[in-house]
Amino acid sequence: MASFLQSLPTILSFHWLIIINIGFISSNQIPPKVQPYVVYMGSSSSNDVEVAKLAHLQLLSSIIPSEESERINLIHQYSHAFKGFSAMLTEKEASALSEDGEVVSVFQDPILKLHTTRSWDFLEPPPPPHPTTTSSSTTHHNNLSTEDVIIGIIDTGIWPESQSFKDPGFGEIPSRWKGVCMESHDFKKSNCNRKLIGARYYHTTSTASSNSSKTTTGGGSPRDPIGHGTHVAATAAGAHVTNVSYYGLARGTARGGSPSSRIASYKACSEDGCPGSTILMAIEDAIKDGVDMISISIGMSAIFQEDFLSDPIAIGAFHADQMGVMVVCSAGNDGPDPSTVVNTAPWVFTVAASSIDREFKSTVLLGNAKTFQGSGIHFSNLSSSKTYPLAFGKDVAARLTPLSEARSCYPGSLDPEKVKGKIIVCMDDDPTIPRRIRKLVVEDAKAKGLILVNGDEKGVPFDSGIFAFAQVDNRVASQIINYINSTKNPTATILPTVDAVKYNPAPVIAYFSSRGPGQLTDNIIKPDITAPGVAILAAVVPNRDRTVVPIGQKPSEYATRSGTSMACPHVTGAAAFIRSVHHQWTSSMIKSALMTTATVYNNLGKPMTNNTGNYANPHEMGVGEISPLKALNPGLVFETTTEDYFKFLCYYGYSEKTIRSVTNKNFNCPNNSNDKLISNINYPSISISNLDRHIAGVRSIRRTVTNVGSPNATYIARVHAPSGLLVKVIPEKIAFSESIKKVSFKVAFYSKQEASSGYKFGSITWLDGLHSVRMVFAVNVE
Ligand SMILES: *[C@@H]1O[C@H](CO)[C@@H](O)[C@H](O)[C@H]1NC(C)=O
Ligand SMILES: *[C@@H]1O[C@H](CO)[C@@H](O)[C@H](O)[C@H]1NC(C)=O
Ligand SMILES: *[C@@H]1O[C@H](CO)[C@@H](O)[C@H](O)[C@H]1NC(C)=O
Ligand SMILES: *[C@@H]1O[C@H](CO)[C@@H](O)[C@H](O)[C@H]1NC(C)=O
Ligand SMILES: *[C@@H]1O[C@H](CO)[C@@H](O)[C@H](O)[C@H]1NC(C)=O
Ligand SMILES: *[C@@H]1O[C@H](CO)[C@@H](O)[C@H](O)[C@H]1NC(C)=O
Ligand SMILES: *[C@@H]1O[C@H](CO)[C@@H](O)[C@H](O)[C@H]1NC(C)=O
Ligand SMILES: *[C@@H]1O[C@H](CO)[C@@H](O)[C@H](O)[C@H]1NC(C)=O
Repeated sequence: MASFLQSLPTILSFHWLIIINIGFISSNQIPPKVQPYVVYMGSSSSNDVEVAKLAHLQLLSSIIPSEESERINLIHQYSHAFKGFSAMLTEKEASALSEDGEVVSVFQDPILKLHTTRSWDFLEPPPPPHPTTTSSSTTHHNNLSTEDVIIGIIDTGIWPESQSFKDPGFGEIPSRWKGVCMESHDFKKSNCNRKLIGARYYHTTSTASSNSSKTTTGGGSPRDPIGHGTHVAATAAGAHVTNVSYYGLARGTARGGSPSSRIASYKACSEDGCPGSTILMAIEDAIKDGVDMISISIGMSAIFQEDFLSDPIAIGAFHADQMGVMVVCSAGNDGPDPSTVVNTAPWVFTVAASSIDREFKSTVLLGNAKTFQGSGIHFSNLSSSKTYPLAFGKDVAARLTPLSEARSCYPGSLDPEKVKGKIIVCMDDDPTIPRRIRKLVVEDAKAKGLILVNGDEKGVPFDSGIFAFAQVDNRVASQIINYINSTKNPTATILPTVDAVKYNPAPVIAYFSSRGPGQLTDNIIKPDITAPGVAILAAVVPNRDRTVVPIGQKPSEYATRSGTSMACPHVTGAAAFIRSVHHQWTSSMIKSALMTTATVYNNLGKPMTNNTGNYANPHEMGVGEISPLKALNPGLVFETTTEDYFKFLCYYGYSEKTIRSVTNKNFNCPNNSNDKLISNINYPSISISNLDRHIAGVRSIRRTVTNVGSPNATYIARVHAPSGLLVKVIPEKIAFSESIKKVSFKVAFYSKQEASSGYKFGSITWLDGLHSVRMVFAVNVE
């Protein structure tokens, strides 16, 4: 297993790979299938860029035939934090390269997705923009911050004009900062300041394919054309901005999780997605520039995860961690199906999304004066003073269209003559058609508004711009349809959206949030933790599109968005906040502090639920939702060391040779390394992928805690075990002193023979009367 050749299917994402191929057909008679590949060569041993470049070119020229010497060219070259490059290769060349002794892995450059809700809602033309507000849990800290923290945001770039990136009150830029503010036709050095201290962009296409009209990735400017990167940056570290709103909604003070932190923006994505080779380049640059943490709201598609060493984020984050840079990532938006979580390497902090206590109400008023509360965000000018004809999709079907399609307002299923001027009721029973498309279908047919029937996604308000919209559940829908049936001329209107806070229960795990267990190994619980990711208000690129700006208003500089993309920077901001107070803490200490102090309760004081009202489990929420203030004083932390990660690579099954390349250390794997031993790395949660109940299985797991509270402390273990499982902590009491900072303990899991099979969840909490150090476990009984 010295090296790997991963051949990701070309269908991976959008048009990227396909377009690049077209560029080549013209220059070759027999079009060879030439595609961008990443060649990963492990840890970097030298800092000499030129030497490394020469070596990489030499390697390429030994593989590529001389008559195609124009391809002996590095698209990206990595030489600081890790070694490797990306280049245009044929599959055969890639395969040959993977045999080279210095090469760890070769994989087709994947296109990663932005993790905004239902990427369609977002990636389709100009999406509704949005900022973070005060009601989220990360925003309540007072001014404890002391030390500068620099946060690197790898995303779609930045809109520097936002109020959230102004710098009054900021001191000198820390001298360790080595980054740059790249200029372009629409981005000047003066767009950077003491808050936004760096901005880079990447030319992501090779010269060979640059002719194609759609190869816009990178865009030739650090400027954010979409708003995703701006929103994420503002959520992590936006400055205080008072009295912001989204056209009057969600009014309040916007601020990021760590308003005192500095921001460096790395634009690795466009509307078409984010090439993995560019993400690697951005991580490499961020480390070199001197960031303290990196926030990545991007991921592979869950179905294409093959291996940690063919996942650009896992590779980049590993080397970042080695150099003391913390990496926080979104879990993905492919929920609620199980095993959809991505970014699952143990050295990555993986974030799920939950709702906040704000709701957006769009009320439906029927001609019979009955009102029904729906949800959604719209800025239409409909009001209670006038109603419009109301029709069910299937009653306004286009000719020859199956009623089942019209009922759901499929594209092309409605008759514009019958739809014009009416409010249309559509069922949303095909999850492959996003809400945005259904809205376009009725809007194009000149409807006045849309009432969409979908209970699942109701908690994630859809933003329909100036088109009237309300989303209702089945119970409300049947009453509306009864009304339509019972009247000759049914009418309705949709009232302007109003927002309400103190909504309960909150948080609730978002429907879309990707779930565990992890596909690559389920001996680590993933996602790790939960943070707000539904209808989050933060800075955006003002969207000037007439279909989203209410009449008479200026384009909003703040807007709401949903996705694990929005949850991730909440954790980045919280981690930066902790780091600014505890300068000397490592990434794993900060991660542990956030994990062992997370809450599993909602604002009713009850256990947090998922959106169908069931108690949320650790495969949905990780250890619970972040509580940044409590995390400042966790009492004990689990330190996951570099050695733990090396062992993880052994246990996962990589060869010693591969691990030595990756780590640049003469490391020996423990004897009998196997996947089960992953449960034993010193992680702040425990997962056991199988415990055999037929032989009354026993597993003993070891952990070590470090005291970061006052020196003389004694902790007692309290166990919450599910039925069918006996859990014993040995010893049950641990004591620390001036000289004893670290203590190890064991947790033994016994499955009773009569236990039912499947995952069981529980927790172990260490208590000293002051602190509560909660460690969550997941055990799969087979
Ligand atoms: C925050 O800092 C300001 C100025 O340094 C100080 O006046 C104020 O009391 C501080 N607030 C808190 C809550 O510590
Ligand atoms: C690039 O595009 C131009 C005009 O579209 C075309 O004339 C030219 O041949 C193209 N070059 C390559 C290398 O495909
Ligand atoms: C906030 O802004 C709105 C208009 O955008 C204005 O009407 C209101 O007075 C402002 N409130 C405060 C407290 O400044
Ligand atoms: C909520 O949790 C229950 C129980 O674990 C599960 O059956 C259900 O599928 C979950 N719902 C969603 C939407 O994830
Ligand atoms: C509402 O806006 C539309 C244009 O979107 C306009 O034609 C119509 O007159 C407006 N209605 C009212 C009551 O302002
Ligand atoms: C509406 O009326 C039609 C025919 O009159 C009937 O088939 C249908 O079931 C009714 N729908 C509802 C929701 O009551
Ligand atoms: C691991 O295996 C090697 C060779 O088989 C042996 O020499 C060594 O003692 C073993 N180490 C442990 C810790 O068992
Ligand atoms: C901890 O206990 C030792 C021995 O009992 C004592 O000397 C020391 O002062 C204590 N430290 C603190 C911070 O209480």
